[in-house]
Amino acid sequence: MRIYKVGGAVRDRLLGKPVTDIDWVVVGATTEEMLAKGFRPVGADFPVFLHPKSGEEYALARTERKSGRGYGGFTFHASPEVTLEEDLIRRDLTINAMAEDDQQNLTDPYHGQRDLEARLLRHVSPAFAEDPLRVLRVARFAARYTALGFTVAPETLELMRQLSESGELEALTPERSWKEISRALMEDQPQVFIEVLRACGALKVLMPEVDALFGVPQPPAHHPEIDTGAHTLSVLQQAALHKQPLTVRWACLLHDLGKGLTPEEEWPRHIAHEFKGLKLIKAVNERFKAPRDCQELAMLVGEYHTHGHRALELKPSTLLELLQSFDVYRRPQRFEEFIAACEMDARGREGLEQRSYPQADYLRGAATAARSIAVQPLLEKGFKGPELGEAIKRERLKALKAYKDNA
Ligand code: CTP
Repeated sequence: MRIYKVGGAVRDRLLGKPVTDIDWVVVGATTEEMLAKGFRPVGADFPVFLHPKSGEEYALARTERKSGRGYGGFTFHASPEVTLEEDLIRRDLTINAMAEDDQQNLTDPYHGQRDLEARLLRHVSPAFAEDPLRVLRVARFAARYTALGFTVAPETLELMRQLSESGELEALTPERSWKEISRALMEDQPQVFIEVLRACGALKVLMPEVDALFGVPQPPAHHPEIDTGAHTLSVLQQAALHKQPLTVRWACLLHDLGKGLTPEEEWPRHIAHEFKGLKLIKAVNERFKAPRDCQELAMLVGEYHTHGHRALELKPSTLLELLQSFDVYRRPQRFEEFIAACEMDARGREGLEQRSYPQADYLRGAATAARSIAVQPLLEKGFKGPELGEAIKRERLKALKAYKDNA
C-alpha cells in the first residue's frame, strides 16, 4: 500500500499558501485492508475512508466513468491495480492533479507545476466534463487565485462553454451548487467568479436573472459606470473589500435584479425596480436553497435599498415602516446587515468607492430612537392587545419625529 498527499494540499504548498485540509490517495490497497487498519468508511458510494486518528480523508485510487446524467450517474472502479496516474487523470485541473509522497517527491504526470508557474487553470483531460460542478469550481478557483495572476486556459473555458450549453448544469443539485457559490462569494475577489461564469455561458443557465443585468444602462448621474451588470460586480467587490458576511454578499449580488425587467423604452430609468425584482430574487433564492438568513436579507435589501439611500429624506412614518419591516426590535443584526448592503451599493459605482455614507449612522440612530420606547409605562397606563400595539407605534413615531428634527 502506497499513500500520497493529493489535490489542494499539494497545490497550496507549492503556491506557498497555508494548507488546511489534506486529502490522501491510497494505491495498492483494498477496502478490507483499510478497514483492518482501523479506517472508517465515509459513505456507501465512494471508496473513501477517514483516518482513525487525524480524521483526514483517504481515498482508494479509482477510475470513474460517467454512466448517466447528473451527479448520481457515476460508476466507480477502485481496485489495488488502479495506478496513481489513472487516479490523477480523472481530476479537474492540472494544478489539482499532483501527488506527493512522504519525502515530498512530486508525481506530476499532467504538468500541474508548469501550469502553476504559467498561472493557468487548465483541465487535465476530457474527463473534466464528467462532473459539471467543475464549471463552478474553476470559476471559484479563478476568483481565489486572480490576485496571483491566474486565468482560465482558453481550451478549458471552451470546455466549460460546451458543458454549459449541454444542459448538464441543470442536473446539479441545489446543495452542491450552493456550496460552490457560497464559498466563491467569500473569496476576496468574488466578482471574478461571476465574470468567469458569464464568460463561459454558465451564468445564463445558473442565474439568468443576474446575466440579464449586463447591457442594461442606468442613469449616469448616479451610476457613472452605467452598466447594471458592471455595477453589480463592483458592489460585490466592495462587499469583499469591506469583509462583509455571506448574507450581505448574497444580497449585494441580487439587489438590482428588477432592473433586468425594465422595458427598453424606459431605460436608463428603472421605476419600481425594487418591487419588480422581488419575484426574481425569490426564484434565485429557492433555486439554490440558500440558507434562510441569506434569503431573507436578499429580499429585504431588494425591496428597501433605495429607502436606505434616501434615509435622510424619509418621513418619520416611512422610517417607522422601514424599521417595522426589519423587525429591528428583535433582529438588530439583520438591520445592520441591511445598512451594510446599502453602503456597498452606494460605493460600488465608478469613482465613488471612497464616498461617505452618512445614511448608515442616520439609520442606526433612527433604530436606537425607535428601540428606546419602553413597553412597561404603556402597560401601566392600561393599554392591552391591539391598542397596546397602536400606542407603542405612536410613541415610536414621536421618537422618530424628534430624532429627525434634531438630526
Ligand atoms: N476533485 C475533482 N473534481 C471535483 C472535486 C474534487 O477533480 N468535482 C479533486 C481535485 O483533485 C481536488 C481534490 O479532488 O484537488 C480535492 O477536492 P476538494 O477538497 O473539494 O478541493 P481542493 O482542491 O482541496 O480545494 P479547496 O482548497 O477549495 O478545498
